[in-house]
Amino acid sequence: MLKIGLFGFGCVGQGLYDIFQSTELDAEILKICVKHRNKKRSIPSEYFIYDKNEILNDPEINLVVELIDDAEEAYYIVSEALRMGKNVVTANKKMLAEHLEELVNLQQEFNTSLLYEASVCGSIPIIRNLAEYYDNELLYSVSGIFNGSSNYILSKVIQENMSYEDALGQAQEFGYAETDPTLDVGGFDPKYKLCIVTAQAYGMFIAPEAIFNYGIDALSPHDIQFAQEKGYKLKLIATVDRIHDEAMSLWVMPYFIPEGHYLYHVEQEYNGVIVEAAFSSKQVFLGKGAGGHPTGSAVLSDISALRYDYKYEYRKADLGKKLHYTRDLSMEIYLRYYKDEDLNLFRFDDISEKYQGKDFNYVIGTVKLEDLYEIREELRKRPVFLANTGRKVQARNLKSEQVLATASQ
Ligand code: HSE
Repeated sequence: MLKIGLFGFGCVGQGLYDIFQSTELDAEILKICVKHRNKKRSIPSEYFIYDKNEILNDPEINLVVELIDDAEEAYYIVSEALRMGKNVVTANKKMLAEHLEELVNLQQEFNTSLLYEASVCGSIPIIRNLAEYYDNELLYSVSGIFNGSSNYILSKVIQENMSYEDALGQAQEFGYAETDPTLDVGGFDPKYKLCIVTAQAYGMFIAPEAIFNYGIDALSPHDIQFAQEKGYKLKLIATVDRIHDEAMSLWVMPYFIPEGHYLYHVEQEYNGVIVEAAFSSKQVFLGKGAGGHPTGSAVLSDISALRYDYKYEYRKADLGKKLHYTRDLSMEIYLRYYKDEDLNLFRFDDISEKYQGKDFNYVIGTVKLEDLYEIREELRKRPVFLANTGRKVQARNLKSEQVLATASQ
């Protein structure tokens, strides 16, 4: 029987607890460890403990479920639990993105199981599908809407004319947003999820710092007007793309999505993942990407899988050793700006459209992902907004000195 030590009783912890009350599973939550003693919670305070070692050192507990917010503390808990020989289920995407390779090694060394379906796209079972169903098929790309809060905000602002601040406030109120919502709207949270997806899809562990991410926080009514005039929606998209036999690339940025695209009708806190593979072609997964119960359901599924000793096998590890990660590719972007000095921050290979108006200006043209990555910090300080047109992504000349990392680094 699974004897669970649960860390965290926030949105997801509480969601899992609720689900547990209405599910028959041969598992029992023995202890719940939380940080704040005086926080008001839905169940009495005698259910809680405050010292993590009471779980970590309890020999009766054979499964640690980690659902806390603090990535550093989560790393300590998860790595210690694995070292103690306990199985672990976690939903902490930042922690996983930063430490996954090491944790996978710990799982192997101590012969335990580390599962994390809930860390990526809430209720969508994408991790287990990548690990099991697509374990052999050649994947061209995995991309989609990986952040529920941003998608919720975009839906409210664009479809319902709500102010950005109000929409963000609602995403926080419903428990979709991270404690620091910059992680959501700045595109960091979907980037962490992309790192986890990449480990399962390509056997590669890419450090989040090496990936370009750009979010929706600089969106203005001008950009919405541009999108609507062209019949597009705006969505924040995370992509891992095998751009070449031996190379793949990752990035997160807003895209203009035309009607008819699989993600066009994905609204509110829903996420959508498109897996493009050699033989099955495109397959689409849709579901709620945030919220206590949808995410809790993914945690429950991992717990349930541990009843029969399930673990991820990382069957793509050999593929990962052959692939390189590169940012050497071109893409077409829309850049809205007000002053030439901001435009001059960018190096366009070519410009296909240029608009100069009374209120704002924009250009559409081709840039290199590497150049965007170089200016990523500065970019966030300037009054500009950029979005991918989705029309052109091109691998450039891939020379060995230009690749950034291999799976072994
Ligand atoms: N803040 C995350 C989101 C929660 O909005 O998608 C789910 O990972």
